[in-house]
Order: sequence, then structure tokens, then C-alpha cells
Amino acid sequence: MKNELIQAKNVSRNYILKGEKIEALRNINLNINNGEFLTLVGRSGSGKTTLLNILAGLDEPSAGEILFKGNNINDYNEKEKISFRRFEIGVIFQSFSLLPLLSAYENIELPMRICGINSKERNKRTKGALKMIGLEKRGNHRPYELSGGEQQRIAIARAIAMKPKLLLADEPTGELDSVNAFSIFSLFKEIVNEQNMSIIATTHDRTLLDLSDKTLNISNGEIANHIT
Ligand SMILES: Nc1ncnc2c1ncn2[C@@H]1O[C@H](COP(=O)(O)OP(=O)(O)OP(=O)(O)O)[C@@H](O)[C@H]1O
Ligand SMILES: [Mg+2]
Repeated sequence: MKNELIQAKNVSRNYILKGEKIEALRNINLNINNGEFLTLVGRSGSGKTTLLNILAGLDEPSAGEILFKGNNINDYNEKEKISFRRFEIGVIFQSFSLLPLLSAYENIELPMRICGINSKERNKRTKGALKMIGLEKRGNHRPYELSGGEQQRIAIARAIAMKPKLLLADEPTGELDSVNAFSIFSLFKEIVNEQNMSIIATTHDRTLLDLSDKTLNISNGEIANHIT
């Protein structure tokens, strides 16, 4: 299908820990189209973070492959790898990793600066992203002057401002109360619809699932069912 953005094909990931094999992922198959919002649910230790890391090219499967626009990401040369990570994929980690000495504005702007986006465009996107997350008045604040939930929203704005084709968000609402969590997932839905970005987000909060197009339930490293 033309519309396919990323596919996991028979992906497994094993860890060997003190001689013992841990099967973190077993034979995962999934498919995300352009402009699709997928949620991943599953108990702690079920393999959600492992799967997101593999989709982002930050970790390699023990077996199987990840196809991005039809190409195996493990076959990319160095240049293609850098371009994939910088321009195609955005990642929001479980720990949101803001730089403490930079203001909220500077944190959002930094990846664009690294990627050579010009200052006018950076300024426009940073302001737009701050507005989108409702923190336009907090741009000059350092992370320690912001609450955990506000810091998380800055991390989300930083990823969105790069306009990736695929945004991978690991528990992006873990620090937020239910109202703010709902507004972040509503924002994801809006971005997917308006910008044709694709988003995969993990969550423990089942009340948020209705906002996504598709939900996959991961249990013991396997896809247990498809809730559409
Ligand atoms: N580097 C590692 N070495 C060994 N085992 C690991 C490693 N990383 C993850 N695992 C194991 O793989 C399994 C899946 O872990 P993963 O972090 O993907 O779960 P998760 O679904 O993200 O959990 P949570 O909801 O707590 O974040 C777990 O059993 C975990 O202990
Ligand atoms: Mg996790």
C-alpha cells in the first residue's frame, strides 16, 4: 500500500541477562500509515519501550526488520541513518531529558539549530509550539522553574517543532493529571489530522485510547489483540 510509513515485520528482541534469555518482543507485526495515530498499551515490562526504541532505530531487533517507506532501516548507510533520526523521526522519552541550563524556548529551539533550520523559521516554530502546549508565557523559564507536567509539555513541543514524519512518544502523559493528559492526546489527534504526521504513543491510561485511530495491546512481548 502506498500510504504505509513504517512497518515492523516479525520483530523479536531478546536480551541475555546473566546467562538467561529474556524475550522482550516476540514476532511483532505492525503497520502505521501516514497521518495515523496509534496507541500502545500493556503492563509494565510488556515491551513497549523496547518496541519504540527499535522503531526509532535506537536499538536493533534480534530477528525481523523495520521498513520505513519500504526500506529496511538497518540497511541505511551512516548518512541515511543521521537523516532518518534528525528529520523523519521524533522521540519523546519516558524521562523527558530537557537541558537544565537552557530556557524552555532554547530547549525547543536546540534540535532545529543543530539541523541548520534558519533563525526566522526556528523562531516561528518555537513560538507556535509553545502556544500549542499552552505555555507561551513560560518560554524564558528554565526547566527547574516548571512543574513536571510543564516540562513534559516542553519535551513534546520540542519534538513537534521538528515536524517529524513519525513521532514516537513513550508515556508522554505519565506526569500529567487526567485533564492535561487528555489535552495532550487531543493535541496529538489534531496534529495527525492537520499535519499528516504519524504518532505512536504508549500509555497506561485507557480513557485516552478513544482519541487514537488504533490501539495495540502488548502482553509479554506479543501483540495480544487489535482494538480498532
Ligand atoms: N537492557 C536490557 N537488558 C535486559 N533486559 C531488558 C533491557 N531492557 C528491557 N529489558 C526487559 O525487557 C522487557 C520489556 O521491557 P520494556 O522496558 O520494553 O517494558 P515497558 O513495556 O516499556 O515497561 P514500562 O511500562 O514499565 O515502561 C522487560 O522484561 C525488561 O526487564
Ligand atoms: Mg517503558
